[in-house]
Formats: sequence, structure tokens, C-alpha cells
Amino acid sequence: MKILFVCLGNICRSPMAQGILEHKIKERGLTNWSTDSAGTSGWHDGEDPDPRTIKVLENKGIDLHHKSRRLRVEDFKDFDKIFVMDNKNLLSIESLVLSDEIMQKVELITNYDPRREPIVVDPYTDGIEGFEKVYTLLDRSIENFLNDFTE
Ligand code: 4NP
Repeated sequence: MKILFVCLGNICRSPMAQGILEHKIKERGLTNWSTDSAGTSGWHDGEDPDPRTIKVLENKGIDLHHKSRRLRVEDFKDFDKIFVMDNKNLLSIESLVLSDEIMQKVELITNYDPRREPIVVDPYTDGIEGFEKVYTLLDRSIENFLNDFTE
């Protein structure tokens, strides 16, 4: 099972989700599961995750190593599931006019939020509290997805 998380810059939200899922994969001993993340923009190509993402994960005992990269067409073939953070990410992917079969792999991660937050809001211009909120929302959504998917 290969899971890709997608946001705009691939430095805040999607690397946070990647770090959380990597941690849960290890905790649950899920063999044959892997995860990665990418951005629709390519604006931060080659950069490390935002220091606030690294900090919030570190506080939870999660060590993240990732270099920002732009989403590429092969990703839609290589990954089994592609989770986006908001409707802008979804629109960027929809504009690529992919087959129905491929588009079935793409959905909002918040579809798995038990509390039904509609999207993962971009925290880029917020303080650390914005990143903590992103962590909490992603953690419970990913946990719920794993429970659904592995039962
Ligand atoms: P992300 O956050 O999409 O969660 O990585 C952002 C990072 C950078 C920018 C916007 C959002 N930016 O405008 O550079």
C-alpha cells in the first residue's frame, strides 16, 4: 500500500502527514506500507520541511526527513492512494484531466476525520499553534483511515 500526501508547498501539511503515517506504519508493524509527500506548486523544490512542522513532529517523538518535491504524473500510477489537504489541491489535480480510474485514488484526507473538519487549512502564515492544529487533525484522520483500512 503506497500512500502519497499532497499539499501546495510540500513543506508544511503533507510532510507532516507523511511523518505521522510513517510513525504509525512502524508502530503497527505494517509490512508493505510506505508513504511519501509532494506539492502541486514546486515552489520549495529540494527544501527541508518547514521548521515548525519539524518541531511539532519532534515534540511527538517523530523524526522526519524529506526534501520538498513537485507532484509528478508518474505519482498517479505509482501510488495506491493520494490524499490532498484542501479543495485547491484537488482542483490542481482535477485540472490534469486524469482518467476516472486514477481520480478514484484521490481524496481529501479530512474525509476520514471523525469530527468532520472540511479541509486541512494552510498554516504557512500562522504561528506554531496553526501547525499543532494541523497535527491534531491529521493524526486523528490518519488513525481513522488506518483503522478502516486494516480491519
Ligand atoms: P503547505 O504550506 O502547502 O502546507 O506546504 C505552504 C507552504 C508554502 C507556501 C504556501 C503554503 N508558499 O506560499 O510558499
